[in-house]
Amino acid sequence: MPNMNSHREIAVIDFGGQYNQLIARRVRDLGCYSEIFPSTVNAAALQEKNVIGIILTGGPQSVYDPTSQKLDRSILQMGVPVLGICYGAQLLACSLGGEVTKTPRPEYGNTLTFFQTGSPLFHGLNASSETFMSHADYIASLPRIFSVTAHTDNTEIAAFESAEQGVYGVQFHPEVIHTVEGEAILRNFVKDICHSPLDYKAENLIDEMVASIRQTVGDKEVLCALSGGVDSAVVAALLEKAIGNRLHCVFVDHGLLRYKEAENVVTLFANKEKFAMDFIPVDAKKRFLTELKGVTDPELKRKIIGKTFIDVFKEEKKKLPHVSFLAQGTIYPDRIESGLGKSATIKSHHNVGGLPKDIGFDAIVEPLRDLFKDEVRKVGLALGLPKEIVYRQPFPGPGLAVRIIGEITEEKIDIVQKADYIFTSTLEEEHIDAAQYFVALSNMKSVGVQGDFRTYAYAAIIRAVATDDFMTAVPVDIPYRVLCRVADRICNEVSGINRVLFDYTSKPPATIELE
Ligand code: XMP
Repeated sequence: MPNMNSHREIAVIDFGGQYNQLIARRVRDLGCYSEIFPSTVNAAALQEKNVIGIILTGGPQSVYDPTSQKLDRSILQMGVPVLGICYGAQLLACSLGGEVTKTPRPEYGNTLTFFQTGSPLFHGLNASSETFMSHADYIASLPRIFSVTAHTDNTEIAAFESAEQGVYGVQFHPEVIHTVEGEAILRNFVKDICHSPLDYKAENLIDEMVASIRQTVGDKEVLCALSGGVDSAVVAALLEKAIGNRLHCVFVDHGLLRYKEAENVVTLFANKEKFAMDFIPVDAKKRFLTELKGVTDPELKRKIIGKTFIDVFKEEKKKLPHVSFLAQGTIYPDRIESGLGKSATIKSHHNVGGLPKDIGFDAIVEPLRDLFKDEVRKVGLALGLPKEIVYRQPFPGPGLAVRIIGEITEEKIDIVQKADYIFTSTLEEEHIDAAQYFVALSNMKSVGVQGDFRTYAYAAIIRAVATDDFMTAVPVDIPYRVLCRVADRICNEVSGINRVLFDYTSKPPATIELE
């Protein structure tokens, strides 16, 4: 993938805090490439990169616990500026001779903080503003080389520095939006202290990524499973740019996609004027429906869909004997979450159906492995992909199967697709922000009256959630007026539905999908 070693970068050393990915993202947003390293990294490994600054992250441990993660001392001798955040700041203080201990007054949440604006880190800030604190330990005393640069009512040493040595520490979290001047602080560190020219942009990496794909793939051929989601679409567009018709893209239409989604994907990627790739749409709707006939158990549905997807994919691969590589839409958070291992785990919760490793490829190509989702989107736009694909909300691999309770039939798929289209397009027109929003079909029929006739039809369930990580979620506050309009339209326009229910359950106890 692109040779990131040529980029001046900020190394983020990970001590296990929950906001660590956010630090790297914020630094990249400022315009400086940033990479996350495990706490065991040493100076020699960092010197292989073009590191212009180091950030030590927060973490859940106590620095005085003998088993806690430590910093390799060689890193402090590299001669590049270092910023410690929370645990990282305590580690700096402690390893240079200061004292860290349990605080009698823990601080959690927004805390008014007073800054010495003569500090290069706080240059241009207001003399006081709120920062986000989350600590039970505190720095009781500093080594002599440091001076205090910020305090709060409870904490005397909320920030410290030795500007001559280029070492800075903050007890609060500048990467979290609740720290009002957090972005300005990170900018001061990256731009003024580390002298980054702030010239990094993900979309400028396209030429490098293309060159790197060409180098890796040589004159071989690549197969890509296209789901219609943003990651696989961007992978396909990049590979196509690199190797043209030596890219084969298999798009399996399992019949469980959203309204007109399969048609849109086919129209886009089969357009020979835009894409030279060998695009292989596989209409497997009947096959999936047959396999799912009579199945009502949610787990069994998932298993059947996963297996059928792999069977179809393997059959397509057999028809392409010259393919050596599998292209995958793995992105940076996937790797961070799986421990930044060299080989990507092919997750069952990732991409279309989750492809097993033993499917017979020589190697895997992952051009997006160093990018965050928002960067993938920027690359997608720069490659000319339409906004509907680039900003598509996440959609589960088993598709509408997990949004139709009970047995799946052609009729139910048609109903849920139409109702979903009405709901999602209304939320978009109303500019209502939600991470995921969709219609599911309950297995409940009830009595209604439509056009003077009695009806006995399904109840649709509308669901819209806000979430950052999809591990927990809360319902989105949709105005009553919009809910009523959606219910009216669904009942009037979708035959087979005479009742609309609003699911306002959080996760937990519910999950986002209904099955
Ligand atoms: P749940 O329903 O577990 O969903 O709260 C969390 C997130 O994961 C998505 N999801 C899936 N994605 N294959 C996928 O690719 C799956 O089998 C699958 N099941 C759930 C879901 O849409 C939500 O974003």
